[in-house]
Amino acid sequence: MKLIVVGATGLVGSEVIRLALRNPSVASVVAIARKPVPAPTNAGPEAQTSKLQSVVLENWTDPYPEDVIQHIKDADACIWALGVTPTQSKDMDFAAVTTICHDYTLNALTNMTAHARNPFRFIYTSGVAAERDQAKTPPFLAEYLLMRGRTETAILEFATQHADRGIEITVAKPGGIASPGREAIGAQFLALVESFGHTATVHVSELAAAMLDQCLHGVTKDPLWGEDLVEIGRRVLREGDYLR
Ligand SMILES: NC(=O)c1ccc[n+]([C@@H]2O[C@H](COP(=O)([O-])OP(=O)(O)OC[C@H]3O[C@@H](n4cnc5c(N)ncnc54)[C@H](OP(=O)(O)O)[C@@H]3O)[C@@H](O)[C@H]2O)c1
Repeated sequence: MKLIVVGATGLVGSEVIRLALRNPSVASVVAIARKPVPAPTNAGPEAQTSKLQSVVLENWTDPYPEDVIQHIKDADACIWALGVTPTQSKDMDFAAVTTICHDYTLNALTNMTAHARNPFRFIYTSGVAAERDQAKTPPFLAEYLLMRGRTETAILEFATQHADRGIEITVAKPGGIASPGREAIGAQFLALVESFGHTATVHVSELAAAMLDQCLHGVTKDPLWGEDLVEIGRRVLREGDYLR
């Protein structure tokens, strides 16, 4: 499988890359970011770091330039982990947050699917609180959470509209993401996440492994809630694969 990873410098994207380099079923990994993505130093001896190609994209809303197209053509799948988190969004202009979260994603889908293989699988990282139902008013960060929900709906509609091209899309909707070295997730945040009725936290390795599994074996459902991500991740990960 040729895999594109976007958001490769972030918490989620970097773990996707680490696991993909360890996975013999992944032949190549194209990391698209606004700065070069070095091979991880913590991937272990099983990792084939030579599978990683770093591609710098400067303009995320225009058609992708030819050199980027050459890297992404014939890809089998993309894991999208680029985004502005709710905390980051509080200090940013909302129009800019929308451009990054929504417009970059839709533009990528158009560019990637024009040059990808059939089937092409696109796994989008969102969050448990993102609201697809635009008639609802989330009790906090409403503007942001409705926008993230609109993006989810738009990419799923894209898949429906281009069904003849074998585009499979699903949205991963974790609550909190646990990772070594990160501060423990606070009780107040956990209670908030639990109020959505889904498994509150997923280990970053389980999230990344679950998304990789959907790329390799096909999309099984949408959305993928915390409990789905934990179940798939635990099933496919070996003990030594976990980020420690
Ligand atoms: N972290 C959590 O606990 C959590 C929980 C649930 C859902 N999520 C969702 O999961 C997704 C990934 O989260 P994360 O924790 O991995 O976030 P992160 O560590 O902040 O990483 C975000 C990624 O997006 C890229 N990015 C942001 N703004 C960009 C821009 N203007 N142009 C190009 N690249 C840009 C960053 O690149 P740079 O390094 O260049 O800035 C980075 O690679 C987000 O959509 C988030 O909302 C996260």
